[in-house]
This record gives sequence, structure tokens and C-alpha cells, in this order.
Amino acid sequence: MTGSERGQALPVAVEHARRWLDSLEDRPVPPQAQVEELVERLGAKLPDGPQDPAAVVEHLASALEPGLTAMPSGRFYGMVIGGSHPAALAADWLTSAWDQNAGLARLTPAATATEQVAAAWLLDLLGLPSQSAVGFVTGGTMANFTGLAAGRDEVLRRVGWDVAIRGLAGSPGVRVVVGQERHDTVDLALRYLGLGAPEAVEADAEGRLVVADLERTLSARELPTVVCLQAGNVHSGGYDPFAEAIDVAHRHGAWVHVDGAFGLFAAAAPAYRHLTAGAESADSWATDAHKTLNVPYDCGIAIVRDPAAVKAAMGMHGDYLIHDEAGDPFEKVPELSRRARSIPVYAVLAALGRQGVADLVERMAGHAAAFARGAAELPGVELLNDVVFTQVCMRFGSDERTRAVVERLLADGEAWMSGSTWHGRAVLRISVSNWSTTESDVRRSLRALQRAAEGV
Ligand SMILES: Cc1ncc(COP(=O)(O)O)c(C=O)c1O
Repeated sequence: MTGSERGQALPVAVEHARRWLDSLEDRPVPPQAQVEELVERLGAKLPDGPQDPAAVVEHLASALEPGLTAMPSGRFYGMVIGGSHPAALAADWLTSAWDQNAGLARLTPAATATEQVAAAWLLDLLGLPSQSAVGFVTGGTMANFTGLAAGRDEVLRRVGWDVAIRGLAGSPGVRVVVGQERHDTVDLALRYLGLGAPEAVEADAEGRLVVADLERTLSARELPTVVCLQAGNVHSGGYDPFAEAIDVAHRHGAWVHVDGAFGLFAAAAPAYRHLTAGAESADSWATDAHKTLNVPYDCGIAIVRDPAAVKAAMGMHGDYLIHDEAGDPFEKVPELSRRARSIPVYAVLAALGRQGVADLVERMAGHAAAFARGAAELPGVELLNDVVFTQVCMRFGSDERTRAVVERLLADGEAWMSGSTWHGRAVLRISVSNWSTTESDVRRSLRALQRAAEGV
């Protein structure tokens, strides 16, 4: 097969990708077709024989187009969803074309070198210890899983229990202590790790862990302990008080993990760095490149201060594998085979530079503040959080009216904001996480919110 035969479907993909990207400025943000219709458009019957690859891609792109949500649009503020920076998007295409299995250093010097450079740049930007191990995983959930796995094994090792050999059954046990408002996926990661539900300590009105309650909880009994803190609450954007909480946790011999899926990047912006102050003293950290850093899905980052601790949890040996004595990328993550996720991360960091990353973070947080100011003028609105970073949370009177505003806003199509429940009450959340959001997007979205609020 020749090179041009291998790439025969690419021009079709380029054409459709261009059309999609060009449509983002004006297309409705919500999808225009639902699953049933799309299944029909795709064709439910498996073809009997081969089809032309370019024709398949043409059909796929045309069939799915109405079912796409404009998540990379500057007016998508749902969940915590970043866009794709142009450099990261193009680098991601190359990552697919190059098709490197990034697990082994000697198998792919290119991916390994990129991982080393991207890792060093990330540690520098985030103000974290330069010798830390950096693993590229699927997302925040698995980044938390990785840091918590290293912590679980290490606190048991300190009491003479080797999880790798003996498993968890019969072990002294590990208690995991979290704030009341940790992200739900932390509990999921703990389930995967066989640790069950964590012990939750009080959180304040902004969802930040209360240190006095952490101290009380840890003093109640001594066990191998992992404490999981949070940089960026999905409702308020609030940050746990790291310096005090980590000091307390370390005095009790705990491993401290920080879930900073979107919020850890505040450390890269001088105007917001105070939010993460003290977090650098933790033992492990999780963040997502597919959120604040705006690389395409999927890309989470697991950082562990002591490379030996994560290697003990994730490392293995295979006789047929070409191991590198200096260490292999797979020793920092749960998977062996995986995509070279560091390549788009390198691209966006190189394209933005230190100042560009700071500007990106400051622009997103600035738009969130503009949303808070604009929303405050809408009739019947109640702002619920102190807008310290990129998240804004509000209510429109009763639960019923708030849900109706969210529904009406989504039906309007101009912008996407999520409904949620916070402190037992229905809320509307705005998460500004996209590099391409402009002041004009914020104005357009506020007008849409006003139309929705006035319409119910
Ligand atoms: C604070 C926090 N932790 C963890 C996650 C899970 O990340 P992912 O969806 O990338 O697995 C999220 C997702 O929004 C988050 O905001």
C-alpha cells in the first residue's frame, strides 16, 4: 500500500473538519438530532463487504453532523468542557497518523522525548516539584485514580504491608478523608481501588474543606490515611485551604492528593496563583489537559512527587517488552498501550508559551467575572458563589423556575449552560473553559440568559 493510499480518506476528513470549525460561530450549540435518528442515519446493518474508506468517512461525517453538540464553541459553558486549541488539534491529528504506542521509551523515542519535555514544562508552570513523575492518562478520573493508588500503596507500605504482593484483604486498612464537596469521580476512583466510600469532613459555603474538622477527624483514630483535597469546586470554583490542610494531614502521617482537574492551572497565572498556594506541598496531583489547557479529549495528567511510589503501584515486567533501564512511560499510568497524549500537550504549551497560558487562564476567569456582573442585573437572579475562578452558579427564585430557565436557555440554542443541584437547591452553572470564548460570546450568552429568564 502506498502512502497516498494510506491517507486516501484524509482530504474528506479535512474538508468536514473545516466545515465543522467554520460553523461553530453561528450554529446552535445544542444538537439538532437525537440518538435514534442518528442510528438510522449511520445505518444499522453491518456492510457485507469492504467499502471505499473515503466514502465511509464522507458518510460518517454527513450522517453525524446534525447530532454534534458545539462543545468547542465559545458559547458552551456546560459541565467543565475545554475546547481544542488550533495547535493541539493539528498535533492530535498527527498523533493519530503517527500511531505511536507510547508505553515504552525505546519503542518510540519521539513520543518519550515529547513526554519528557511536556512534563517538565507542566511542572514548571504548575509550580510543582521538578523531580515528580508525570503520567498522561485518559482524564481527571484516572489521574485521581493514579495518585490515589500510589498513596494507598505507600501508606500501607509504611506499616509493612505490600499491596502488590498481598492485596488488600487482611491489610491494616486505609482510611480516605475528603471534603464534603469532592468531585463524585473521586469516590469512583476509590471504588476501583477497593477502598470503598471515603470519610467526608465539613465544607464551608463555597464547598471548601474545613480544616478544623479535618484535624478533628484525623485525630479521632490513627490508621494509614490518604487525604484528598480539591483545587476547583465544580459549582463555586472554590479551592481547599491547602497550606493548613496539608500541614495537618502530614502531621498525621497522611498521603495528600490534590484533585485539580480544571483548577490546578490557576497556578500558571500570576493573578490567580494565590488560589493554589500551598498545594505544592502535597504528595500527588491530578489535572486535565482537556479542560483548562484546551487539548482535544482525552488527556488527563497524573503527577506524583515520589516517582518510586507511582512505579511501585503501576510498574510491571514483561519478558517480551523492551524495557528501558532509565524507566518507561507506562510505569506512571494504569495502561500499558496508549496513545501519545503528550504530543498535543506539547503543541499547546509551545504555541502559547508561559505568558500565553497565563493569559488563557486569566481570560477564562475574567469572562466568568463578566458573567457574574451581567447576570446580577437580570430580574430575580441570585448569585450563589464567590466567583474566584471560572465557575459561576446562580438561581432564579424557586427550583421550578430555575429549572425552567435552564430548559428555555437550551431550547434557545445560543449558549449551553448546565442545570445542577447545589446545597439541595436547583441551580444554573456556567463554566468558562474554552480558549475561544470572546467578550462578544459572553454578551450574546447573557442576552440569551436574559431572554430565558424573562420568558418564564
Ligand atoms: C474537580 C474534578 N475532578 C474530577 C473530574 C473528572 O474528570 P474527567 O471527566 O476528565 O474524568 C472533574 C470533571 O469535571 C472535575 O471537575
